[in-house]
Amino acid sequence: MTVRFILDDEIIELGEVDPTATLLDHLRYRMRRTGTKEGCAEGDCGACTVLVGELAPEREGARDAVTWRAVNACILFLPMLHGKALVTVESLANDGALNPLQTCMAENGSSQCGFCTPGFVMSLHGRSIGAVGHALPVADIIAGNLCRCTGYGPILAAGETIMPSTREDGPLAANLKALVEIGTVSGSIGDRKWFIPRTAAALAELLAEHPGARLVAGATDVGLWVTKGLQTIDTVIFLGDILELARIEENPDGLTIGASVRYADAHDAFVRLHPDLSELTRRLGGLQIRNAGTIGGNIANGSPIGDGPPAFIALGATLTVRGIDGRRTIPLDDYFIAYGKQDLRPGEFVESLHIPRPGRDDVIHISKLARRFDSDITAICGAFKLTVRDGQITNARVAFGGMAATPKRAGGCETALVGQPFTLATIQAAMDALRTDYAPLTDVRGSAAYRIEAAANLLLRLWYKAQGETVSVLDLESAGA
Ligand code: FES
Ligand code: FES
Repeated sequence: MTVRFILDDEIIELGEVDPTATLLDHLRYRMRRTGTKEGCAEGDCGACTVLVGELAPEREGARDAVTWRAVNACILFLPMLHGKALVTVESLANDGALNPLQTCMAENGSSQCGFCTPGFVMSLHGRSIGAVGHALPVADIIAGNLCRCTGYGPILAAGETIMPSTREDGPLAANLKALVEIGTVSGSIGDRKWFIPRTAAALAELLAEHPGARLVAGATDVGLWVTKGLQTIDTVIFLGDILELARIEENPDGLTIGASVRYADAHDAFVRLHPDLSELTRRLGGLQIRNAGTIGGNIANGSPIGDGPPAFIALGATLTVRGIDGRRTIPLDDYFIAYGKQDLRPGEFVESLHIPRPGRDDVIHISKLARRFDSDITAICGAFKLTVRDGQITNARVAFGGMAATPKRAGGCETALVGQPFTLATIQAAMDALRTDYAPLTDVRGSAAYRIEAAANLLLRLWYKAQGETVSVLDLESAGA
């Protein structure tokens, strides 16, 4: 089977595709489209930014449309491009003349070196054609593009002058529709295979048939196993075309979110659940990462520093996993057993997450601490949900990432809170308990001592936030923290 995608109105067909060949390598070494650069090869710098378009979900009466996203080509595996459209920086060539975006970059003095500039151009081009995230502030749109030497001011200025509009994609949508296959698509090179199922039932069957297969949704983690870990993965099942796993259902009880929903697409529903999830989502990575990384992937890989799980655990989320014999629903905290060990039986996959809607009595605080605000890996991520009735704490859920080998609840802290009056004295006692709940590691993101104090101070921050106060360092010092 060939991988087929559309690049500049031309259908590209690739036979015998390696399941983990990256789009970046293909562009640079096979197609000689060397405008797309390799800076880091791990999704951090945005030098490899391209735009990928896919058919927008069909809605009654809606015209054919294509949803565009800025993504990192360095960690995008070629089969993931099957049935999609691609725009690279070369696509913007305008018979030798500058297009409006390039003119604007030139006039604002925003052109920098040849490594970072193509990526900045592509991110801003995404804004100009109404790609996912185009309504974000320009600084957020380019947060996943790094310049290591000069400045961002002129680039931000250029971005502000580019007004988002919508591409006319009717003919492209029709051509993409013609590429859509019925049923599972698969390919191989030698003994190495890849599959793209279109239903969850087909996925369950494939997993039963290929129990050692690696599931890949956004590849924001697995991509690095290949580009940095130099791992060879023999069988890959790609999840991006299973519509059932990409659903978001909001109702008065809460939010049910499919495992393949990308963080960028979940943002608005998260904000409606609780505003603290907005900043957490924004800081999870640059837009390119949020356009690829999925809720299910962030949970399934079991990382102790994944940003979503502590918040989801504190909010009381349950996880539904599915296999050939059916489904199981478990509290999310039970899913994380030990480092690298999750409650997932052979043949099972993560299907969806349900997060109950917080009640009016719930006091919630979710906070991520990292060495940099944007696009940085978490040092610690803390999430608290205290239910307070008539001044008494009747329930408490406290969870942290970056404090243990798994995302983990703080049992001692929760015990110190429940049944107590919601007062500063109770919070301070619970901070003491929290200091003994974890034995974190010292690493490049923070020492063990820093992590323990910072975790305790996040609980204090919840207290001040609940009082309607802005938290400053002085507040913390005067409270003896
Ligand atoms: Fe740095 Fe891809 S090369 S994000
Ligand atoms: Fe290109 Fe700084 S990395 S100018």
